[in-house]
Amino acid sequence: ATTLTILGLESSCDDTAAAVVRQSGDSVPEILSSVVHGQTELHSAYGGVVPEIAARAHAEKLDLCVRQALDAAAISLSELDAIAVTAGPGLIGGVMSGVMCAKGIAAATGLPLIGVNHLAGHALTPRLTDQIDYPYLMLLVSGGHCQYLITQGPETFTRLGGTIDDAPGEAFDKTARLLGLPQPGGPSVEAEARAGDPKRFRFPRPLLDRPDCNLSFSGLKTALMRMRDQLVMDQGGLTRQDRADLCAGFQAAVVDTLAEKTRRALAIYMEQRPQHPVVAVAGGVAANTAIRAALESVCADQGALFVAPPLNLCTDNAAMIAYAGLERFRSGKVDGMDLSARPRWPL
Ligand code: KG4
Ligand code: ZN
Repeated sequence: ATTLTILGLESSCDDTAAAVVRQSGDSVPEILSSVVHGQTELHSAYGGVVPEIAARAHAEKLDLCVRQALDAAAISLSELDAIAVTAGPGLIGGVMSGVMCAKGIAAATGLPLIGVNHLAGHALTPRLTDQIDYPYLMLLVSGGHCQYLITQGPETFTRLGGTIDDAPGEAFDKTARLLGLPQPGGPSVEAEARAGDPKRFRFPRPLLDRPDCNLSFSGLKTALMRMRDQLVMDQGGLTRQDRADLCAGFQAAVVDTLAEKTRRALAIYMEQRPQHPVVAVAGGVAANTAIRAALESVCADQGALFVAPPLNLCTDNAAMIAYAGLERFRSGKVDGMDLSARPRWPL
């Protein structure tokens, strides 16, 4: 079996990352190293990722990440088979930083250059840790993305639906902001929700009346704002319990929506793979215990295997990019020095 060793770079949002992944034949790949430099502190004062600040930080940190990833893997550039880099979609300044860095290494070493779609990287993540066969159903839920994909092969995806407005992570972050809770909002809202009554406030369940696999989360924010303002008007402010109940109500709406749409996506997918169906999640929102439990129960109902990769692989990382690049390289595809960074790049 051919052994391939790939260096991957990721810089499409607010994490600068480099990783080395190796695979022999079609065995489960080995992550030799995976380095991630987050930028949360740089953006925290602004309540969101500032593209220009992100781009500068990527440009500054990429070479360090590469050095650390090679050192941690105890590998030199000459032992690599190719360089893979996220070429989109994402914040264009950051994507360009990564692509330029990868081109520089490729030019200096003569190694082949491979452009990877960031979403394809997420979608292939479950195969980094488990022996999972195509096709499997993938739910991608992060701060920037939300979609259902049938992963048919390393570069073949059938999109069943996705959000028509905000991503769920974005909705958690906005909820936290509206209630004065710390960022990132997901963990703080989840923590508050534990002490809350999900039934006190009735949040909408958007798009459940439609039969498709599309989702919408921006209405939850509007509903939350209305409820909050009403409380402020009635009682002059929010109590600790009000906050907890609002978080619990909001989270229950997200959980119900994701559970129901997953049920629908699973039904479509299972027409294609009725035997041993597999559902996987990726993205930071997959960290949410209530969401995981709901998805797990939907899968158990239908006899599908539920796979949730470890959190450091669910969130942005370069191991998934190296692996997606490895798959592309294995199928004989490489990109040239004309590889361009793409802000938008649907699968
Ligand atoms: O995948 P990720 O690290 O970055 C991208 O968006 O690409 O996801 C980050 C998002 C943030 O919006 C964060 O609030 C959310 O994932 N998140 C959570 C939880 N932990 C992180 N959302 C809900 N519950 C959580 N426990
Ligand atoms: Zn991502």
